[in-house]
Amino acid sequence: MSMARIVVDPQFTVAPVDRRLFGSFVEHMGRCVYTGIYEPEHPLADQDGFRKDVLALTGELGVSTIRYPGGNFVSNYRWEDGVGPKEQRPVRRDLAWRSIETNQFGIDEFVDWSRRAGVEPMVAVNLGTRGVAEAVDLLEYCNSDAGTALADQRVANGHAEPHDVKLWCLGNEMDGPWQIGHKTAEEYGRLAQETGKAMKRLDPSIELVACGSSNSKMPTFGSWESTVLEHCYEVVDYISLHAYYEQHGDDVASYLASGVDMDRFIEAVAATADAVGARLQSRKRLRLSFDEWNVWFQGEFGGEDSLDWAVAPQIIENDFGTVDAVVVGGLLVSLLKHADRVGVACLAQLVNVIAPIRTEPGGRSWRQPIFAPFALTAEGAQGVVLQTAAEGPTITTAEFGEIPTVDTVATWDQASGTTSVFAVNRSPEESVRLTIATQGLPAVRTATAVQMAVGGAGAAAGSDESAWSPRETAVELSDEGAAIELAPGSWTRVTLVA
Ligand code: AHR
Repeated sequence: MSMARIVVDPQFTVAPVDRRLFGSFVEHMGRCVYTGIYEPEHPLADQDGFRKDVLALTGELGVSTIRYPGGNFVSNYRWEDGVGPKEQRPVRRDLAWRSIETNQFGIDEFVDWSRRAGVEPMVAVNLGTRGVAEAVDLLEYCNSDAGTALADQRVANGHAEPHDVKLWCLGNEMDGPWQIGHKTAEEYGRLAQETGKAMKRLDPSIELVACGSSNSKMPTFGSWESTVLEHCYEVVDYISLHAYYEQHGDDVASYLASGVDMDRFIEAVAATADAVGARLQSRKRLRLSFDEWNVWFQGEFGGEDSLDWAVAPQIIENDFGTVDAVVVGGLLVSLLKHADRVGVACLAQLVNVIAPIRTEPGGRSWRQPIFAPFALTAEGAQGVVLQTAAEGPTITTAEFGEIPTVDTVATWDQASGTTSVFAVNRSPEESVRLTIATQGLPAVRTATAVQMAVGGAGAAAGSDESAWSPRETAVELSDEGAAIELAPGSWTRVTLVA
């Protein structure tokens, strides 16, 4: 067995743990909204048609912030269709997912659902088929006090108090040719600047996210961010990143190392944003919004044109296994390591669509294996993020070359005296003994750990949660700190309490 060692020291603080790192995403896509979070006919629906079983699982998952209503959907969405008396709302064709949109769920329902779920709403405006006026209208509808036409419309629709939505996305994936209303970087940069200017004039308390690249393999990656930010750097607060990972062929090692790609992506976007800031002689430092990330078997998706105008069709309801859970755990390690730059992150999506939570229409709901590393990280990551000085073995992967076998990050919560260490062993074959040397921290009194491993029980997907639930794993205490065995292809959370 190889040996690795990390030093956990509060002097190596990266940043406070921002709860917004544990966001998720609800899109009008497939069955995420209809028969996902909203199903008035379900026996467990509350008075507003929200599924109480899904609300409970959302709470257990520990999500903080939820992005809505898309995704690609937003780029052809008329928000006005989704407000007012439900029987008067129009049925429309959604071009993004070739689906029929009933508009029985809209912005008012989403904000009500968010309050009930205890999450912060993050709302995207349509900059595909629409522009400045419609974005400002939606903001006025949501955030203005009564006394002007759109705010009064909200009041008439039963919401006397403003929704007070703070986080706003200026469109979605506008660099993607698949996007309805796709734009060049010049076109989008100007539109984002003008829309952002008008929105902040109406409500200066909001925070704005500009669209970065849809993924780091886009041919315009880098130049897109640069051009867009040349226009809107001063008005926006975040630039977005999106990334989805899957295994290619039988290359498990590269899949397990997906966090390397996320690390490089984050660092490249931060550097690009900083370069623009320098050119503009700006004192401002942009933060990053990783507002879509997850695993997704994209190779199995037939594309938008394969879809056929149904209401809430089954789209990309991927069944995940433990290997996907380990990858998700590794991606969370990457996000935490960059907590000084990444201020928002959204696991895409919340329910049914490549999601940690699944439902049957009229039936049960269950957790997928990726639920576990997310919930355990959201729960365990408290206080401040600590960079872990690490030494240990390396492996060579087809996609990333030679990389450290073990990737780790820690958090330290002074109030409870708790240190959490999150570790991923990317070797599919070899166990690694990890020594955690604590430095400048009170002596550890108790140590516990939970682990999920590839190839263990539940390697295949399934709704039998007992087959894949994280296992308690022994941790040894020593004068130096603690030590634990990381199984091949595993994700582990270690909790050390002083
Ligand atoms: O999450 C599914 C889709 O992936 C989103 O609609 C889009 O933004 C991304 O390409």
